[in-house]
Amino acid sequence: MSRLIVVSNRVSVPKARGAAGSQGGLAVALGSALRERRGIWFGWSGKETQTFSGHLDMQKNHGVTTATIDLEPQDVDEYYNGYANRTLWPLFHYRIDLAEYESGFGKGYERVNQRFADSLGPLIDPEDTVWVHDYHLIPLGERLRTRGNKNRIGFFLHIPWPPRNLLVALPFHERLVRTMLAYDLIGFQDEESVDSFLGYCRKELQAEVSEDGTVTFDGRSVKVAAFPIGLDYDEFLEGGQTGDARQAEQRMRSSSRYRKVIIGVDRLDYSKGLPERFDALGRFFDTYPERVKETLYVQVAPPSRQDVASYQKIRNTLEQKAGQINGERSEVDMVPIRYVNRGYSRQELFGIYRSAHVGLVTPLRDGMNLVAKEYIAAQDPEDPGVLVLSRFAGAAEQLELDGEGALMINPYSMEETSEAIRTAIDMPLEERKARWEKLNEVVKTANVERWRENFVEALGA
Ligand code: G6P
Repeated sequence: MSRLIVVSNRVSVPKARGAAGSQGGLAVALGSALRERRGIWFGWSGKETQTFSGHLDMQKNHGVTTATIDLEPQDVDEYYNGYANRTLWPLFHYRIDLAEYESGFGKGYERVNQRFADSLGPLIDPEDTVWVHDYHLIPLGERLRTRGNKNRIGFFLHIPWPPRNLLVALPFHERLVRTMLAYDLIGFQDEESVDSFLGYCRKELQAEVSEDGTVTFDGRSVKVAAFPIGLDYDEFLEGGQTGDARQAEQRMRSSSRYRKVIIGVDRLDYSKGLPERFDALGRFFDTYPERVKETLYVQVAPPSRQDVASYQKIRNTLEQKAGQINGERSEVDMVPIRYVNRGYSRQELFGIYRSAHVGLVTPLRDGMNLVAKEYIAAQDPEDPGVLVLSRFAGAAEQLELDGEGALMINPYSMEETSEAIRTAIDMPLEERKARWEKLNEVVKTANVERWRENFVEALGA
């Protein structure tokens, strides 16, 4: 079996199974593959250095070797905060209004991808398989090829790929897409992204696109397909058996007393549709005033990418909205919304999800959204809650289940979201169970190990 080299902007250092605050599903899935194949996980250390040296920090933790490099402050500004998070992230989430472009961002992005290639290249043996992750590193495969690496190299995009007529608003879009054709396999979260990508290749590059999604251009062929990412289902359930999970569930139940809990868990990001969700809750409380005392909305929203202005702005907007909703409707002993700006361990989240009657996942655009899957996995099979899901999450393709799975909503419609909340709260046990069983089957079988195996197999490793 060939070695697997995983590359991503962030590297998650493996921890012992069940360790407090242990890592997310992706880290678990890749960690086990890397252990089996004696591979390496390569990326940015998250640290800055005044002058880039290319020094590799190699560590072995719980059988996984990680190799990281430090970046210069200018790299972090232009590559991470700039091109990745101020240009590509908004554009790929259909927020062309928020996308900024400065030539320095593009140069920084190319420079850092070159630095990644130069530092990583010498670690790669001829028979290794390389798997590059996400929008920070789109040109990395091409940079490695230029260095002479002939390995099988795959790329997986964790976020949506935008339609052609949005992508063409990006200066030098063609250059970016052409670099992708240096990979052997390109994976997206859903069919919609695959269609958008193939449409671009056909129309903008005049590339040949075959029925099975192979793009042929300039004498090279690349396979393109959807690989919807899943949950580390078994580990997540195991975490649900811990004291941390039970305590979190207990705390939620006792503090919410007789009220029905609606839960939202999102990184504080404008793609998650949080202002729209808060407005929909306001509408729900206005339409059904008798429900105010019976319902509690808990929003867990850890701050993210705080050096980027649009993230500071969304934070202010939400503080204002939460304050307003609570100010108008609270009693001395009761607030309708608990808005919490911190993260919780996955064990605690399991307990929090389990205590909630409704899971509200309403992004305006999302690659997959694993919160939707975690909410399902954490439910009590005898008394499960109801998932309300945006049709614009990648997870919608799997969890809509012809109307028999999640309650689907258009997050731009306050009315639809508000009505779905009411339907979810009032749903009889039999229907909740029937929907949950179908959903759980999908979440359990289309798990993260399956995702990883499918991708690696398609890559021919
Ligand atoms: C999304 C991206 C990941 C990223 C994560 C957290 O899930 O697809 O690549 O790591 O957000 O964002 P951050 O900027 O903190 O790494």
